Amino acid sequence: MSLPQEWYAAINLRRSRRRYDRSKSIEPAVVEKLHRACSNFRPFSGVRIEFFPEPPADIFAHAFGFYSLIQNAPAFFAFIGDMSDNHVQEKMGYTGEGIILEATALGLDTCWVALSYRPGSANSIVKLSPGEKLIAVSPTGYATDIITFEEKAITGFGAMHKRKPLSTMVSGLEQAQWPTWIGCALEAARLSPSATNRQPWNFHIENDSITVSVKNRGMEFNVSKRLDCGIAMLHLELGAGNQGIQGEWELLEQPAVARFKIK
Ligand SMILES: Cc1cc2nc3c(=O)[nH]c(=O)nc-3n(C[C@H](O)[C@H](O)[C@H](O)COP(=O)(O)O)c2cc1C
Repeated sequence: MSLPQEWYAAINLRRSRRRYDRSKSIEPAVVEKLHRACSNFRPFSGVRIEFFPEPPADIFAHAFGFYSLIQNAPAFFAFIGDMSDNHVQEKMGYTGEGIILEATALGLDTCWVALSYRPGSANSIVKLSPGEKLIAVSPTGYATDIITFEEKAITGFGAMHKRKPLSTMVSGLEQAQWPTWIGCALEAARLSPSATNRQPWNFHIENDSITVSVKNRGMEFNVSKRLDCGIAMLHLELGAGNQGIQGEWELLEQPAVARFKIK
């Protein structure tokens, strides 16, 4: 299944937002599209995303370290995984980022949240089947037009949005020998969001494939780095697709995550 090209364009538009304008409600047609995207985009078994078009009670009333409260979200997504699946985290990252980019393409704002929320409150709203766990949530809606001083402070005045250079995250084939699609795929992957902006990925390049692995340096914070790597997998595939390249994912065992091989 090829991914929507609007998602590639949405990569550069997406930015985590934490202050919402509750006076701007999500239009019924957009609500419908989000429900449809959540039920249609199921590329892997064992993970699902549910959309809740109502204010998320006190789910976001929890600060964590430098992450202060998320405020006034009129709706939210729940990212749910079957924890008996060894690949649940990367599958969740890949699928969840699809929905985040779909929301972005529809003009909405979002923020992956795996730390600064109350799982207890969320679990009272989200119905889980045996073996399932809520892995993360995201507020959605229209963020305030003005980014307040407080919201700027949470992001370290832009530092939390900065990405490392590609040279720090690649190995294998020399850059001078990369086919064009590889540069585009890696640039899209480099722009992926990650918990605490830790960017815990490494990309091993071969002529016809890119292997994503976890970089073990840096804090875990009880959020799997494989979740971040799954997000990078989706971005990578979108970048390749933008150059007309389709491929297939093979899920791998630790510390590797998955290999994208061109068809
Ligand atoms: C898996 C994951 C978990 C995250 N958890 C939180 C969180 O608990 N609270 C929060 O405010 N932001 C959270 N973020 C947002 C990141 O801080 C943000 O994506 C990163 O700093 C990059 O900034 P950007 O999304 O604006 O590009 C999370 C992001 C990811 C991908």
